[in-house]
Amino acid sequence: APDISLANVQAHLNDLQSIATANGGNRAHGRPGYLASVNHLKAKLDAAGYQTSVQQFTSSGATGYNLIADWPGGDPNSVLMLGGHLDSVTAGPGINDNGSGSAGLLEVALTVARERLAPQKHIRFGWWGAEELGLIGSTYYVNNLPTTERSKIKGYLNFDMIGSPNPGYFVYSASGQPSGSLQIQQVLQAAFTVPTELTSVGGRSDHAAFARSGIPVGGTFTGAEVTKTAAQAQKWGGTSGVAFDRCYHRSCDTTGNIDATALDRNSDAIAIALWNLAGAGTPPG
Ligand code: PHE
Ligand code: CA
Ligand code: ZN
Ligand code: ZN
Ligand code: ZN
Repeated sequence: APDISLANVQAHLNDLQSIATANGGNRAHGRPGYLASVNHLKAKLDAAGYQTSVQQFTSSGATGYNLIADWPGGDPNSVLMLGGHLDSVTAGPGINDNGSGSAGLLEVALTVARERLAPQKHIRFGWWGAEELGLIGSTYYVNNLPTTERSKIKGYLNFDMIGSPNPGYFVYSASGQPSGSLQIQQVLQAAFTVPTELTSVGGRSDHAAFARSGIPVGGTFTGAEVTKTAAQAQKWGGTSGVAFDRCYHRSCDTTGNIDATALDRNSDAIAIALWNLAGAGTPPG
């Protein structure tokens, strides 16, 4: 798999920060900064050759939006999906939660296009709205898929918070939740050059919407409000006794709230997992 450019991922985070700053300081569901975020990503994906669509839904009296991007080609009956939520909380710009996953996924998608990847599986990306209100957008997407379309999705990889400032390197545990995929877990573990820990993320992010309908899921995470232990600081560096992300759901979740190494390692891991699980480079059949 190609190396994902950290500078390009950081540039996307700067764009999301500017969008928040220009729109009252956040990118939350029902606020103008959210739709501006969708439109920003959509323009980049359209220009790269993706087939994009914006799915609307209503939640708490406001219109929400999911952005779906399909890379043309691959087996239409065997779809690999990757996604994360694009909305922030109202308290701040949501750069780690979840500008980080959104930006990493965007740069991987643009790299797929630059490399003219022709994988066995069909590749689809999703950026979800209203996760912070209770997985609303991803649940809407899954619930509105016809059963035949749902059964074509062979796996879903979720990326929510991948640049925490005092990072851990967590991979979703296959056994820690419904529909966890051991294959996805193992591919993601192998994608890191640092030791990883398994974590039971349960229903705390958008993978849960896919898991509920029986789609195999996995993902990575660099930690939120939980405190880093001494043993974790030993193996990963950073500060023990301090939260992985002290600015979780706060106004200080800005571009200053990102660990560049964690963001780079996780963005590279997204690409490694995609190239591996999509059957890139292996002859069809
Ligand atoms: N989904 C949580 C949020 O957006 C963060 C989280 C991600 C928690 C992954 C656990 C695992 O606030
Ligand atoms: Ca990289
Ligand atoms: Zn951008
Ligand atoms: Zn959040
Ligand atoms: Zn989140």
